Amino acid sequence: MKFSAITDNFPQAQAEALVIVVFKDEKADSEDLKELNKITGGLLDSLLRSEEFSSEELSTHNIYLPENSGVNAKRLLIISGGDKEEFKPANIALATGTAARFLRKAKVKSFAFNPRFEADALEISQFAAQGVVTSQFELDKYQTRNKDKKPAEIANFLLYVKGGKASELREGLRRGQIIGESMNIARDLANEPPNILTPTEMAQRASKIAKEVGLKCEILDEAKMEKLGMGSLLSVSRGSAQPAKLIVLKYTPAKSSGKKETIALVGKGITFDTGGISLKPSEGMEAMKYDMSGGATVIATMRAIALIKPKVPVIGVVAAVENMPGGKASRPSDVVKAFNGKTVEILNTDAEGRLILADAVAYAEKQGAGTIIDMATLTGAVIVALGDINTGILGNDQTLIDEIIQCGKECGEGYWQLPVGKQYSKMIRSDIADVKNIGPRGKAGTIIGAVFIQEFIDKAKWAHLDIAGTAWCDTVRPFQAKGPTGVAVRTLLRYIEKNQ
Ligand code: BES
Ligand code: MN
Ligand code: ZN
Repeated sequence: MKFSAITDNFPQAQAEALVIVVFKDEKADSEDLKELNKITGGLLDSLLRSEEFSSEELSTHNIYLPENSGVNAKRLLIISGGDKEEFKPANIALATGTAARFLRKAKVKSFAFNPRFEADALEISQFAAQGVVTSQFELDKYQTRNKDKKPAEIANFLLYVKGGKASELREGLRRGQIIGESMNIARDLANEPPNILTPTEMAQRASKIAKEVGLKCEILDEAKMEKLGMGSLLSVSRGSAQPAKLIVLKYTPAKSSGKKETIALVGKGITFDTGGISLKPSEGMEAMKYDMSGGATVIATMRAIALIKPKVPVIGVVAAVENMPGGKASRPSDVVKAFNGKTVEILNTDAEGRLILADAVAYAEKQGAGTIIDMATLTGAVIVALGDINTGILGNDQTLIDEIIQCGKECGEGYWQLPVGKQYSKMIRSDIADVKNIGPRGKAGTIIGAVFIQEFIDKAKWAHLDIAGTAWCDTVRPFQAKGPTGVAVRTLLRYIEKNQ
């Protein structure tokens, strides 16, 4: 995909299609729409006046241009931006994504896009490019049928921003491309079948990516984890024939600002969650291949960090483990000792995410992290509470939480905070060990998961993102395929860039 910036004469862009955003109640009487109306021979004006024109956000209207239009493009595509007052830079990704998915079905390979919206040039161009890249992801990786019927890939994307500085636009396009590609890597990992993406394979992919972008990568095997005393993580792996891996990615800035302590991103990488001996019902179990989405987000975000090069050290820790009910699997009532020395009574082997994160977050803190953000498809309860609209966020530091929520707002990702506190922590006190891995049935499931992880944080500022609802989208959207979403990559990058 080639991305370029143009700063004048949008109608004459060298592309097969011109794409514009038109907002609710707009008519073809502004200067730029008048000019475009001319090349359509008046059809744009008719469309905007017609009943047929829908100003519902992201609806698309295609106008074929007449032979004598005088421009290079063959069509003008209108993307409805909805209410201009509610439109934000992040919506630009949805608009370019919608356009790209519409056009490639029509086998159009190049388009010039004009958001007709004023905002910071770097923001506009970043979202524009990211939207194009993420819109091209499909679930068809393993399909050999209908190969020739697949939609074309967009080859050329031209961004026009009125009065924009070309150098700024190019920089934004570059960053947007990196972010979009990284999101697609997270999505590809989440979509992989669990027989292919085992913990060992996940570690290999991480190490390959690390090599490509210049990250340090260390893979701890089970013997090493045993030595370190990671009894909680290893207890989950016991029932599987696939050995667990702890993936550690390190980014060290060339130019450190010197005053910032290490930020750790920690991810749940359950490559398949059967529930273990507390076996899940078979119906819907196939969805549990995405239970490594938190880990995928960490790998993808670390990749983007290595390419964007912020001035703060970041470490990524992914616990890659398969949860299976084998002969050596944990039993409900087992007691294990975690990396930080605390003992855990396992009362439900399906509450395995918190068991692996317990050791992963403690390890991250031991590596010197002052801020730890963990992400995990941790609870079904967060889906009940927030659906696939908002990620659940909890933690021990309100400033950190507020900053993440704000970063999410700026890039179109929703977060909703749930509380933690002593009263909840009491609910996981065990009669025979320090803590148990579940609370009372049906009560505060998402919070219980979080306060369990909190037991393994010492002094670090910590936030936990429960992405069980937001990491997967069951329906196709105008701007994205159904399936894995790559949620949180954009938010985390933004957070890190603000804290460098
Ligand atoms: N991976 C699941 C969480 C999950 C469940 C995600 C359904 C998406 C859909 C997690 O490991 C799990 O099984 N959590 C249990 C915890 C319970 C046993 C305390 C849950 O949410 O039911
Ligand atoms: Mn589970
Ligand atoms: Zn799980």
